[in-house]
Amino acid sequence: MDQRPIGVFDSGLGGLTAVRRLRQIMPSEHIIYFGDTSRVPYGNRSSDTILKYARQDLRFLRSFDLKAALIACGTVSSNCLGQLQRENDIPIIGVVEPTVRRALELTENKRVGLIATRASVSSGAYQRLMSQLDEKVEVFSQPCPLFVPLVEEGRFRRGDVVIETVAGEYLQPLREAGVDTLVMGCTHYPLLEDVIGSIMGENVNLIDAGCESAYAIRRHLKHSDALAPEGQKGAAEFYASDRVADFERLAAVFLHEDIGHTAHQIDIETY
Ligand code: DGL
Repeated sequence: MDQRPIGVFDSGLGGLTAVRRLRQIMPSEHIIYFGDTSRVPYGNRSSDTILKYARQDLRFLRSFDLKAALIACGTVSSNCLGQLQRENDIPIIGVVEPTVRRALELTENKRVGLIATRASVSSGAYQRLMSQLDEKVEVFSQPCPLFVPLVEEGRFRRGDVVIETVAGEYLQPLREAGVDTLVMGCTHYPLLEDVIGSIMGENVNLIDAGCESAYAIRRHLKHSDALAPEGQKGAAEFYASDRVADFERLAAVFLHEDIGHTAHQIDIETY
């Protein structure tokens, strides 16, 4: 057993989709979340910049005595997970592998769609792992650079003409490709599940990167006997690099839980 907290980070609020699931399936765990809201989005940046930001994010989280870290960001996971794992002596879990494994379990026609940020798609990490694990699978990728800013602006609901128009355009090639499974390879996208589901149709499986990564870290901690003792109530602490009022307001939407005025602002450039 291990009482120490789990650190979770993302470029912004998207990683809270993983925290929400973590709190459902591991209510005893203590979670420390950092959202780099002053520098979001990461998805249009170079891999050098993404690595630099991710190192700072992790350094901040490691100022706490963590037992493990979850990179709840498809962009960081697909661009530099290996590098961060080599540089740190605690277990670091990303979103790519658990998400890909789930997609391969569910696809029947072996035609899998991938939507993610531009940097995630161009890293090739999701596509490579998918073909390594199943050489018969065909992957159809579509970067969706406008999704993160629209979600962070709260424009993710059905009936919102802007998000529906943008999503319709991005998803059209994947509909035409006849995918039966769609990887939402960015942790912001589960908020768009209703919009995406209505465009793709109910027969297409939607895979949620935040949710799959939460299950992956639970498996890891269980396997290494490092879960927190059952029965205790875990807490969550929230940190952001920009104004916390905005973070707190939108966090409630991502988490389905009101965090009140509990978030703290930090200066990430000092890490
Ligand atoms: N949630 C991040 C991801 O999973 C968003 C990336 C971004 O900041 O563009 O990729």
